[in-house]
Amino acid sequence: MILNNEFYIHHIRIDEDLENDLPQTLLDENQIEQVLINILLNAVHAIENDGIISIKTRMDSEQAELRIEIADNGCGMNEKEIRKIFDPFFSTKPSGTGLGLAVSYGIIRNHQGSIRVESRSGKGSCFIIDLPISPVDFRKEGGEGIA
Ligand SMILES: Nc1ncnc2c1ncn2[C@@H]1O[C@H](COP(=O)(O)OP(=O)(O)OP(=O)(O)O)[C@@H](O)[C@H]1O
Ligand SMILES: [Mg+2]
Repeated sequence: MILNNEFYIHHIRIDEDLENDLPQTLLDENQIEQVLINILLNAVHAIENDGIISIKTRMDSEQAELRIEIADNGCGMNEKEIRKIFDPFFSTKPSGTGLGLAVSYGIIRNHQGSIRVESRSGKGSCFIIDLPISPVDFRKEGGEGIA
C-alpha cells in the first residue's frame, strides 16, 4: 500500500484482520481510500515512532453494513480534542491544515455512513467507520446478473 514506506520508516507494525468475503458494492473507491489514508497518516503522526496500527474490517450479520476499525497506540486525545477533530481547520500539528478528518467526515456522510472515534489521552485512538452496503446490480451494467 501507498503508506508502507511511512510505516517502515517510523517502525510501525500493521496488524490486519480483514473480512475476506466482501460483496461487490457501490462505493467511490478513490474517496474511501482517501479517508483511510487520512486516518492512517494521523495514526502515524500520533505514534511518531514504534507502535502498532490495527486495521479490522467486518460485515454485520445482515450483510448490510461494513465496519472498518483503525486503531493506534499513539498519543490519544483528550475530551476537548475529541469534540473538535471533525471540525474544518482544527489541528494540533504545527503544519496541519486540519482538513483531513473534516473531508473524511463529509465523504463518509455522502455514503450514508458514520464515522466516530474512541480515544484516551496517552493510550491511543480507534476510528470506527460504518458503511451501508448497496449491492451492485450487474444487470444494469450489462454484466452476468442473476436472471
Ligand atoms: N489517531 C489520532 N491520534 C491522536 N490525535 C489525532 C488522531 N487523529 C486525529 N487527531 C487529532 O485531530 C486533529 C485533526 O486531524 P486532521 O486529520 O483533520 O488534521 P491534521 O492531521 O492536523 O492536518 P491535515 O489536514 O494535514 O490532515 C489532529 O491535528 C490531531 O490533533
Ligand atoms: Mg490529518
